[in-house]
Amino acid sequence: MKKRIIMATVAVSVGMMSAAFAAETGETIFKAKCSSCHPDGGNIINPKETLKGIKDPKKITKKIRKGGGGMPVFDAKAVSDADAKLVADYIVKTFKK
Ligand code: HEC
Repeated sequence: MKKRIIMATVAVSVGMMSAAFAAETGETIFKAKCSSCHPDGGNIINPKETLKGIKDPKKITKKIRKGGGGMPVFDAKAVSDADAKLVADYIVKTFKK
């Protein structure tokens, strides 16, 4: 009986840890900060500048810091360097065409 309670406690804590970890993925950052203008990798403001088929993640991290053409600048407070890298890798992997 005691063993079962311990197992249940472990299961709950592992679940909570993975939820906290999930908050840090490229996908969740994208959904929180980018997808309002770039749903499905598109672009609702300038439909010619989509996120599709970008091969170099550095192009994305640069655009995050520089903005321009209707895209806001995201400084390191808005999107940390680590998060910018995560979201760039997510975009390259997800929106291939
Ligand atoms: C308020 C709307 C808005 C938000 C939010 C936004 N963008 Fe943009 N984004 C744009 C617009 C508009 C352009 C076109 C800019 C141009 O013409 O130079 C663009 C262009 C880009 C480009 C260049 C695409 C290309 O093919 O050259 C990248 C990369 C990009 N955005 C990434 C992001 C990422 C990553 C985020 C989230 C951190 C984000 N954007 C959030 C509006 C937005």
